[in-house]
Amino acid sequence: MAPNTPLNSNESKDTTAAQRGTIALFYGSSTCYTEIAAEKIAQILNEKYTVDIFNIATSPIKTAERYQHIILGIPTWDYGELQEDWENIWDEIDAINWVGKTVAIYGLGDQEGYPEWFQDALGYLWTKVDSLGASTVGFTPVAGYRFSASKALSPDGKFFLGLALDEDSEFELSEQRIADWCRQIAEEFEVE
Ligand SMILES: Cc1cc2nc3c(=O)[nH]c(=O)nc-3n(C[C@H](O)[C@H](O)[C@H](O)COP(=O)(O)O)c2cc1C
Repeated sequence: MAPNTPLNSNESKDTTAAQRGTIALFYGSSTCYTEIAAEKIAQILNEKYTVDIFNIATSPIKTAERYQHIILGIPTWDYGELQEDWENIWDEIDAINWVGKTVAIYGLGDQEGYPEWFQDALGYLWTKVDSLGASTVGFTPVAGYRFSASKALSPDGKFFLGLALDEDSEFELSEQRIADWCRQIAEEFEVE
């Protein structure tokens, strides 16, 4: 596949059409869990939208310029650090004009193995796009999770700043969490 070609080749060549009916999903993934979640999210949203999937290791994040609705997928690694592909393109995120874009973020983490750093990278990415002017949607309640600290929480501590998936300790809950979140962000994208 040529570099920059989305996994799902439904991408419209018409920028205006892409902005209206298409969602771009950018992910980085070291051991495939965030990638698999991307495919599941796209499969569900494809009923209503066209979803173009991009692996940030091979596709420039600059491509986000062409979309109004954007999903970002990021796992946390190494005790509260960004996944390495995200770390490599971190400064390139600043070059995008995020004003007028609506962004939903999902993270992968392990609340049992890393309870003091659960989903920290989701929090770093949210803080970055929020400070650059993006509107954000897709917050989810923390109720039911077990961790001691996270940088991915709303100021009142009641919500994650996106969807928190845990394929290590709660893999059996992921399918429902993804389905619920897709329904939620589809509605929230609609009103933005
Ligand atoms: C060495 C190592 C460090 C990790 N550090 C964290 C962490 O600090 N916080 C967290 O929530 N999850 C942490 N995890 C869990 C990963 O985020 C989780 O396995 C995730 O599914 C990996 O996603 P990926 O396969 O898309 O890279 C860590 C996993 C490993 C193996």
